[in-house]
Amino acid sequence: MLIVIVGPMFAGKTTELIRRVERYVIAGKRAIVFKPSIDARYDSSKVAAHNGLKFGAYVVPPDEAGVEAIGKLGLDYDVVAVDEVQFFPPSLADVLNELADSRVVIAAGLNLDFRGEPFETTMRAMAFADRVISLTAVCKVCGRPATRTQRLINGLPAPRDSPRILVGGGDSYEARCRRHYVRPA
Ligand code: ADP
Ligand code: TMP
Ligand code: MG
Repeated sequence: MLIVIVGPMFAGKTTELIRRVERYVIAGKRAIVFKPSIDARYDSSKVAAHNGLKFGAYVVPPDEAGVEAIGKLGLDYDVVAVDEVQFFPPSLADVLNELADSRVVIAAGLNLDFRGEPFETTMRAMAFADRVISLTAVCKVCGRPATRTQRLINGLPAPRDSPRILVGGGDSYEARCRRHYVRPA
């Protein structure tokens, strides 16, 4: 079974991933949580949510070697969870799909980058999923449900040509609804 948790930043994806993994641990299942080594925002060896919630994680590089490690190590567990799947190459989705034939796999990832372009690995994982949990954050402008992530530089939308990957939190990103998300120029 493959469960994919998707949405913009601050939607509660990591919180939901930890909540689900914890329930399996309570049920006596062997569980492992992976995260990419580039995400050291709040803790280098734990998956960490924006609200301070944390869970021990196995850190792997966000490349083909990391994907291979997840595929191999995952075989020894009943439950395999991966946070921040958008940072891994799309081949991760295929590996998770195969692992999901004989165990529970939970993947959490961003829907869109700051330019409004879909993250390929999250999209591929969603296509393979048995269940997609689509979460919304709260729009920082109007308080309505937010489905998008705005990257801000000095309070203004980051330009289109700024790098796709920039690890950060409330310092450089805001959740926005469709109406208040500004397409970068
Ligand atoms: P994600 O992994 O999707 O970025 P997290 O699980 O890390 O989300 O964090 C969710 C938490 O972020 C919420 O419980 C809330 O405390 C906090 N938060 C901060 N800004 C917002 C926002 N704009 N909308 C919703 N939650 C927010
Ligand atoms: P989060 O979904 O758990 O909040 O984490 C998303 C991470 O992705 C965060 O470190 C910021 C980063 N990110 C990018 O690198 N590029 C982007 O376009 C966006 C929207 C986020
Ligand atoms: Mg998260």
